[in-house]
Amino acid sequence: MQVLVIGSGYVGLVAAACFAEAGHRILGVDVDTAKVATLSRGESPIFEPGLDDLLRKHLASGALRFTTDLREGIATADAAFICVGTPQSEDGSADMKYVLAVAGQIGQAMALRPMEAKPLIVVDKSTVPVGTAAQVHAEIAAHTDRAFEVVSNPEFLREGSAIKDFLEPDRVVVGCRTDHAETVMKGLYQPFLDRSGGKWFRMDPPSAELTKYAANAMLALRISFINEIANLAESVGADVDHVKVAIGADHRIGPAFLNPGPGFGGSCFPKDLQALLKVGREHGQPMMTLATTVEANRHQKQVLLRKVKAHFGVKAGVPGPLKGRRFALWGLAFKADTDDIRESMALELIDGLVTMGAEVVVHDFAAMDAVKAKIGTKVRYAETPLAACEGADALLIATEWSQYRHADLDAVAKALKAPRMFDGRNLFRPEAMEAKGWIYQSLGRRSVDGATVKA
Ligand code: UDX
Repeated sequence: MQVLVIGSGYVGLVAAACFAEAGHRILGVDVDTAKVATLSRGESPIFEPGLDDLLRKHLASGALRFTTDLREGIATADAAFICVGTPQSEDGSADMKYVLAVAGQIGQAMALRPMEAKPLIVVDKSTVPVGTAAQVHAEIAAHTDRAFEVVSNPEFLREGSAIKDFLEPDRVVVGCRTDHAETVMKGLYQPFLDRSGGKWFRMDPPSAELTKYAANAMLALRISFINEIANLAESVGADVDHVKVAIGADHRIGPAFLNPGPGFGGSCFPKDLQALLKVGREHGQPMMTLATTVEANRHQKQVLLRKVKAHFGVKAGVPGPLKGRRFALWGLAFKADTDDIRESMALELIDGLVTMGAEVVVHDFAAMDAVKAKIGTKVRYAETPLAACEGADALLIATEWSQYRHADLDAVAKALKAPRMFDGRNLFRPEAMEAKGWIYQSLGRRSVDGATVKA
């Protein structure tokens, strides 16, 4: 099949590379000339494991090409995917200006399609509010009398494993009104479903649009829930590791996505929650559990800071209470295997520590440049995890890079002023840390006070 993928951001690039891998012919479109030139050389402007290899492979095979002009491919395309950004507006809603602009351009370019061509399947892939398919339809129809159908096909990609998620989907959701649209979409996705045994869901476009938001909202809610259970576990002397495994064994609950953490971040959950709250307000259906989830996450993002303050006896009203203290911070990205720092709790942690007069030395495996660009010399940057710890009063962990889990903790203990760790990702077990003489605090388990350690 021939496919236009409009927008070479995160979603567009992953879709373009993976559709090429499935044997389709792909034309990637972006307005940014410099980006198109970079991509055409086989260089990916984003960090995503496996993406560069696929791009290079299919540029070389000729299955994938990039251009700035969507008219180039419109005459013969079976489908055109809209994958442009939907940034958050001030009121929390998704800003649709780029999606609608592309719809207008598609409408104008439709004149290049032969009258007798099959209807062009225009696919909303960007995360868009419920009702967007109808808006996109109206925008295209305003410019053309050629046949087309707008389909909603939300993506469920996770940063860091987006290629695998695309090539081996759990499910593909397609919101369409005709069998022709379903046939085209099935033709595109069948190779992936064959590989993963994933499920195919055909529904109407508004249901597909709502599915995307509902999935992300439920996952966010689940994380906030386990975070609260973890916080409570500490107070009642329970261990969240036991609780999460035992509740997860109930097939109605399931084991995944029950790891307590320092609050969720990233480009999707926070933005999609706000957008769904807004949709709820607009339709007189207050989404009360989601409002609480947002609040709970705001609270959770301070969890490590609260522990640090309690440990070092920080009192309200005392200026610069952490002056003279140095903290090593491992992990800046909002989660492992990405360089994305959007809504990352590490930034809030840095802010809190620096405001209290502390010095912070940071390390991350992919997100250092992004942090440098954002906050510059507010912190110091270490080349290695160990170097970050030299002479620090404590080590804080915000991101679960697997390399941290396998760090040489004896060397880390020696580098620190005292073996003291605040672990926001529960990378280690308290009893193992106790045996090694650490002061160790994590989430939802007992704290180890390191009685033998001099602070
Ligand atoms: C998410 C959805 O998973 C994906 O389907 C959707 O398309 C986009 O949003 P992503 O934002 O890449 O993907 O990250 P994800 O792996 O889902 O993690 C989101 C946040 O939740 C991260 O901050 C992560 O650290 C946190 N998290 C996740 C937890 O704190 N505990 C968990 O058990 C899982």
